[in-house]
Amino acid sequence: MTTTAPARGYRASQKVLHWLTVLAVAAQFAVGYALDLDGDCDPSGEDRSGGDTTDAEEERFDRLEEACEARADDYDLLGGGLDLAELHLGLGMTVLLLGVVRPLWRRVAGLPPWSDHLSTRQRRLVHWTERALLVLLVLVPLSGLLLVGTGDDAWLPLHIGAHVAFFTALAAHLSTNLRPVILRRML
Ligand code: HEM
Ligand code: HEM
Repeated sequence: MTTTAPARGYRASQKVLHWLTVLAVAAQFAVGYALDLDGDCDPSGEDRSGGDTTDAEEERFDRLEEACEARADDYDLLGGGLDLAELHLGLGMTVLLLGVVRPLWRRVAGLPPWSDHLSTRQRRLVHWTERALLVLLVLVPLSGLLLVGTGDDAWLPLHIGAHVAFFTALAAHLSTNLRPVILRRML
């Protein structure tokens, strides 16, 4: 770690970037889990109708289904309102941007000296979990873009695997950083 930053903690710009990232990633996970993984656009009621529907009802179900599939298929961020998939793409691009800017800014702004409350072993863990998080901030959105760009569901396990790896790195990050004496450095 370099010692060019103020001795007590991180710079305001680093804190803002850190907590903006946390907000964007938290929102992104919420949206990600709300996405319909089966792409199931069957309107509720169609299953229950069991073939007893009138032609008018069938037509209504078909129209609802077509509208749902059209929304899910085209990632049109500019027109036709924002659906969950488009929100997921927009937030993903935001996280990707933060994932690129943060390590660059880290180089320019430097890091504060280590906290005295971290042992050598903990410092090693902090160092590697921060690196893993920074790499995954780029890899998770890229795996999502690959999934959508190729239109091939075979990439979904990579996207899910990348975000599970992210959870693992985050758990390690929190295991060292949730102590008030450490947390204060980022507040
Ligand atoms: C930080 C960035 C991202 C995070 C944390 C994230 C997280 C998630 C999560 C949690 C899921 C649900 C998986 C499951 O239920 O197990 C998901 C699904 C998905 N994500 Fe992302 N994602 C990110 C970026 C992106 C980007 C940039 C795209 C590109 C558009 C994308 C496209 C998708 C798609 C297509 C699905 C599957 C949805 C479906 O099949 O209905 N993700 N993501
Ligand atoms: C999206 C999730 C998160 C990511 C990607 C992330 C990433 C990082 C990174 C890369 C650093 C190193 C400083 C820098 O380069 O700016 C850092 C430091 C820190 N993070 Fe996080 N973080 C996340 C969530 C959290 C959460 C939820 C907390 C606590 C509630 C937290 C607490 C801290 C603290 C206290 C430090 C300073 C540690 C020190 O003393 O050096 N982080 N984080």
